Amino acid sequence: MKQWNYLQASFPPDDLDEASGILWSLGTNGIEEDPLRSGKLRIKAYFDPLQDLQSLHREFKTQCRQAGIPLFGCTLRVQVERDWFKKWRQQLQPFTIGRRFQIVPFDRENKIQGRLLGEGDRIQICIEPSMAFGAGTHETTQLCLEALERYLTPGSTCLDVGTGSGILAIAAAKLGARKVVGCDIDPIAVEIAALNGVQNGCGATVRWVLGELEKVRRFKPGYLVANLTVELIEQEFWKFEQRLKPGALLIVSGLLNHQARRVERLRRRSSLSLKRRLKKGEWTCLIYVRS
Ligand SMILES: C[S@@+](CC[C@H](N)C(=O)[O-])C[C@H]1O[C@@H](n2cnc3c(N)ncnc32)[C@H](O)[C@@H]1O
Repeated sequence: MKQWNYLQASFPPDDLDEASGILWSLGTNGIEEDPLRSGKLRIKAYFDPLQDLQSLHREFKTQCRQAGIPLFGCTLRVQVERDWFKKWRQQLQPFTIGRRFQIVPFDRENKIQGRLLGEGDRIQICIEPSMAFGAGTHETTQLCLEALERYLTPGSTCLDVGTGSGILAIAAAKLGARKVVGCDIDPIAVEIAALNGVQNGCGATVRWVLGELEKVRRFKPGYLVANLTVELIEQEFWKFEQRLKPGALLIVSGLLNHQARRVERLRRRSSLSLKRRLKKGEWTCLIYVRS
């Protein structure tokens, strides 16, 4: 029987975005929200059992303290698998993103494929909702997809750093990129991305690499997309810049609106200029062009 490990914490609902940002940066696979009668919000953030949960627990509490998020209880728990994940997968219906994409969830194990919406000219991306981030339901992913549909030109090349489910790399391939690389430090994500690549007929167009950007050698893409956290984007910013050839675009997402200025501060000292800023709710995506 499988077991799930999760961190359970309660805090004021206004702090949800910031607390979720911290949990995603710590590698959570999914967050359940449960409003309490007291007016507080209780969340359960699920983690891979292989992760060092005690350190994650400590780190979450430290980062919440630094961000001024009051925690009313924060514990690590173990739950023996009920059917929640299966049910969640089966509930997902196809949905559209931007002007060009339709995400079609499918369930490989039970051979369930979401019903198509009948919007003939949309590009369909089949994604199996899984433990890898990138089902297409999160705003940060949607902003990247909107940036790609707006700017990526057929025949170009694209590098997706932190590929998760592979959704952005697959999107780039389906928009006509001739060579795409998706990399991720999480072996499970890379495995799932590769399976999603097969399901979407990506063939040899997309290569999946386990590891950070450095693991992808001798590849200077026309587009580099990274949906990470502000801390990771700051850390990797200069490596991203070096990777880009003149005229190439850098698309960074995973930034809460107020965090965008931190990346902008770095960018002003770089060879990049701001091409566009996309926003969705609390989230900002920055699109830069290398001079
Ligand atoms: C927020 S998810 C983005 C997934 C997908 N690209 C999307 O937009 O939905 C971030 C992913 O980055 C990966 N990641 C974290 N740090 C990384 C690093 N330094 N290099 C490469 N991947 C990293 C995580 O394992 C996770 O799968």
